[in-house]
Amino acid sequence: MANNDPSAHPIAAPPLAARSQHYGPAAEESTLRQVMGRFPTGVTVLTAAGQHCHGMTANAFTSVSLDPPLVLCCVARTARMHKAITAEHRFAVSLLEAGQEQVARYFADRDRPAGPAQFDTVEWLPGPHTGAPLLSGSLAWLECEVAQVHEGGDHSIILGQVLSSTSGSGQEALLFFNGCFQRAGSPTR
Ligand SMILES: Cc1cc2nc3c(=O)[nH]c(=O)nc-3n(C[C@H](O)[C@H](O)[C@H](O)COP(=O)(O)O)c2cc1C
Repeated sequence: MANNDPSAHPIAAPPLAARSQHYGPAAEESTLRQVMGRFPTGVTVLTAAGQHCHGMTANAFTSVSLDPPLVLCCVARTARMHKAITAEHRFAVSLLEAGQEQVARYFADRDRPAGPAQFDTVEWLPGPHTGAPLLSGSLAWLECEVAQVHEGGDHSIILGQVLSSTSGSGQEALLFFNGCFQRAGSPTR
């Protein structure tokens, strides 16, 4: 009979530094980037309020758990967003609608203004729980408190406990696939 107790299957993962010795050609940066580009994702803008007010486009975002409500995002350790989220301990996530490609490009552009001024050209409202900008016209919004931060190579894996989640009325999602923005909205049947 199958043993479904997760504690009966300990995950024996070597530390990250040890594993890097086993990289093969498939894990070369350009190959991995190309292969992972074959996995379509939605597109979000992560935002933080306060002293470190900031926003950043991110597609490394997923739901983790319903009880407790958890999501995760992966943020480059070199990104200004990393400092913003880890310092503020709270962040918001706007899930972008198909028409928000320019918003996604803007919050991925290193040359955008820093601090609150970067939000002058987009419509937003402060999240009631975090104060972080919720971008108007998005498909949905979440507000989160940082629950845990894990090392993930050159990124940090940030686990957020969801404080609130709200849906908008949009029906078409902005997607990122094969290095291009695309739109998704038609069910397969
Ligand atoms: C579609 C798309 C998805 C991205 N996803 C992520 C991501 O999940 N994590 C990340 O750290 N950077 C991601 N980036 C890159 C950042 O948006 C970009 O490096 C940004 O300029 C960093 O901003 P900051 O240093 O001002 O915080 C993505 C960029 C694009 C265009």
